[in-house]
Amino acid sequence: MAENSRSLTVGEVAQRSGVPVSTIHFYEKKGLIEGWRTEENQRRYERRILRRVAIIRIAQRAGLPLSLIKEHLDRFPAMPITAAQWDVLNRDWRAMLDERITSLIQLRNQLDSCIGCGCLSLEDCPLRNPGDQLASEGPGARLLAAAQSEKAPE
Ligand code: FES
Repeated sequence: MAENSRSLTVGEVAQRSGVPVSTIHFYEKKGLIEGWRTEENQRRYERRILRRVAIIRIAQRAGLPLSLIKEHLDRFPAMPITAAQWDVLNRDWRAMLDERITSLIQLRNQLDSCIGCGCLSLEDCPLRNPGDQLASEGPGARLLAAAQSEKAPE
């Protein structure tokens, strides 16, 4: 991509977005943002990358993993995203946040019931073994035990 007066250095992107230069490089390495090299081998970015970095930061603050953020942003490679595209992201991320909130509330409530107990039982403790659907089959790594029993003798 040709350099133009609208391009930004990595330092300018960092300063304007409020994130360290190392984070900008990290985002680029992970494919979340894209830049190019000048003939002098310096990194340059389009100004619209600032909006993408802002969205990434917001999603990170919401606790979304970078791989998921990338997956979602890749649906809208052109920046800035439109209001309709933002609405799609908003709905998807809101649903995930709702799930996380529900899960955290459940964890908080389980903590309440475990405080004062301290057994951390693999069989009974919801903190130690949350949502264990194989617990009724017995203690330990049930799937591993099943796989080993199917393995031919050496
Ligand atoms: S610590 Fe005992 S049930 Fe969780």
